[in-house]
Amino acid sequence: MKEWIEKIESADSIEALENLRIEILGKKGFLTKEFARLKDIPNEEKKAFAQDLNTKKIEITNALESKKEILEKIELNKKLEAERIDVSRFNNKLTCGAVHPVVDTMDKIISYFQNLNFAVEEGPLVEDDFHNFEALNLPKYHPARDMQDTFYNKDYSLLRTHTSPVQIRTMLAQKPPIRMIAPGTVFRRDYDITHTPMFHQIEGLVVDDSDKISFSNLKHVMEEFLKHMFGNVEVRFRPSFFPFTEPSAEVDISCVFCKGDGCRVCSHTGWIEILGCGIVDQNVFKAVGYEDMSGYAFGMGIERVAMLIHNIGDLRSLFESDLRLLGQFK
Ligand code: PHE
Repeated sequence: MKEWIEKIESADSIEALENLRIEILGKKGFLTKEFARLKDIPNEEKKAFAQDLNTKKIEITNALESKKEILEKIELNKKLEAERIDVSRFNNKLTCGAVHPVVDTMDKIISYFQNLNFAVEEGPLVEDDFHNFEALNLPKYHPARDMQDTFYNKDYSLLRTHTSPVQIRTMLAQKPPIRMIAPGTVFRRDYDITHTPMFHQIEGLVVDDSDKISFSNLKHVMEEFLKHMFGNVEVRFRPSFFPFTEPSAEVDISCVFCKGDGCRVCSHTGWIEILGCGIVDQNVFKAVGYEDMSGYAFGMGIERVAMLIHNIGDLRSLFESDLRLLGQFK
């Protein structure tokens, strides 16, 4: 008996303890066998024999239980120790993401214009002919539609080729004065080193009484914006054509520009085109039912701006999800 108690006390795992329990109290256990012997014991000894067995059983059960408690505590502590978390440890290998350079550039442009009190408007990517072309003074069969290689759907809806339809949607939904920008995704059938079929633009539109709108006002806003984005650049306005603005201009910045860590050269002519703008054509106001209004509008490709700021050579690389490129923007 003493031997069993000692064995129980020196058990080193719950499993070992359970094996002991089976050896003693199991079906073929030592104590179970003792109890079976009861029937062969002469009657006068039966009572004492049974009492003795019961005491042993209680002793063993108690020993098993208290040892089990101890072993359980030990195992729990081992488990807690193994799963311990050192909350003070600094994991400097943590790999966190970075804001994509296109999104980052978009955010910078948006906040610049928000500070000038421009509201941010949005429109659908799947557009109709009216908003994307017709209302922007691009009637059907107008040759200027060829300027924008369009993706058409089977139902003749289309993927918007520019953010200009948001001008139309905003003017139809609101009354002048209007002062808005529209950042967003646009689509054109184009693919080369400076074009991807999906890219991003920011549109701007200001509509007010005619004494409050002038080309020189537009010019000033564009110049200040470009200096904010690119540092000390020269800005050049070239006469151009857009169906929805008259007069229209394309704006170039001087190509060797310096900001922060050094100077960058961007083309052999010394200039690079950065945005289109102009005074809103009266036909656009007619299409949305505005009378006696003036306005100016501008639009630019965000990838182009991001490429210049970050010295990225191939626009397509912005959409290849290559971590070697994206990792540089942390
Ligand atoms: N929507 C024109 C484009 O995609 C840009 C533009 C917008 C030009 C507004 C003038 C005014 O090329």
